[in-house]
Amino acid sequence: MVSVAVLGAAGGIGQSLSLLLKLNQSISRLALYDIVAIPGVATDISHINTNSTVEYYIGQARLSAALQDVDIVLIPAGIPRKPGMTRDDLFNINASIIRELVEAVADNCPSALIAIISNPVNFTVPIAAEILKARGVYNPQHLFGVTTLDAVRAARFVRDIRPNMDTSVYIPVVGGHSGNTIVPLLSFAEPQLDLGQEEIEELVHRIQYGGDEVVKAKSGAGSATLSMAYAAARFVKSLIQSFETDLVIVEPALVDLAADPQGARQIKSLGADGLAFFAVPVVLGKMGVKRIELLRGEPSVLERKGIEIAAAALKISIDKGISYVAKTS
Ligand code: NAI
Repeated sequence: MVSVAVLGAAGGIGQSLSLLLKLNQSISRLALYDIVAIPGVATDISHINTNSTVEYYIGQARLSAALQDVDIVLIPAGIPRKPGMTRDDLFNINASIIRELVEAVADNCPSALIAIISNPVNFTVPIAAEILKARGVYNPQHLFGVTTLDAVRAARFVRDIRPNMDTSVYIPVVGGHSGNTIVPLLSFAEPQLDLGQEEIEELVHRIQYGGDEVVKAKSGAGSATLSMAYAAARFVKSLIQSFETDLVIVEPALVDLAADPQGARQIKSLGADGLAFFAVPVVLGKMGVKRIELLRGEPSVLERKGIEIAAAALKISIDKGISYVAKTS
């Protein structure tokens, strides 16, 4: 049985995600932490008659207690986008929140698997890595930036233009988690997709900027919360399934390529050379990243170009994340 902590559990994502995690019968303890409103959320969820016990922790003084004996830490704490904002605009506030939370993870449950949802993921994951390194507890296999929503959107948006397509279609999405760093590899879809060039270009654009549809529709009330909660709950379910079975379970995630140097070689050869982090299809396991799932075949010209564009933008984000930690240490 698995102990899971959600940091930022009273937020838009946090509440829905905690609800979905309460439905996961493999979870034995759900530790819900926030700086506001968490007693009500946790008490409400705790009445659902599934296996896990729900505990709540409010305020920084209770953060250490929340993290005791935790196997998986999910971090959706931080501010979301408003219309007109890019994910990068969230940098300063969310970087300091991530710093505080990851330091506490390092001190209290250094072996836990950490899944970061807080944006900009392209920055927050390198920041988390630097903090864990500084504390001497970094294991690249244990750290994930949650990019599952990009794959969820890809599968759903394909269905919007191909009504007969099963929504479980597998589409690898690589790169990062922001605008043009999101690179859906439609030519690797399983089952194969039969799409014209114009359809491909429109679909790629919609997957890259799908989050903007939600920000606009919510007109100032935030960004994706419900679909994000679904995506993160799916990620956790996959992770736990990989602990419990010998099945090969793959989810996309932004990871440190040092987690699997052999698998990283292929990604680097596609135009991501010199990058420490990249979103890739990951085979999950008890140790976190078991390996990077290799792509079988060659990406199209458009996909290769997409990877190069993503790599250039990601490099800037990663460097900024690393220098943020150096400057604020
Ligand atoms: P929200 O504002 O509804 O919730 C954020 C929660 O974090 C609040 O309950 C707040 O009290 C809490 N919080 C703030 N500072 C904290 C701290 N120091 N310690 C613990 N909790 C703290 O925001 P929402 O919509 O839930 O989004 C959360 C984050 O997730 C945002 O950064 C957003 O951009 C990101 N996001 C990520 C996606 C992804 O695919 N990875 C998709 C959509 C959003």
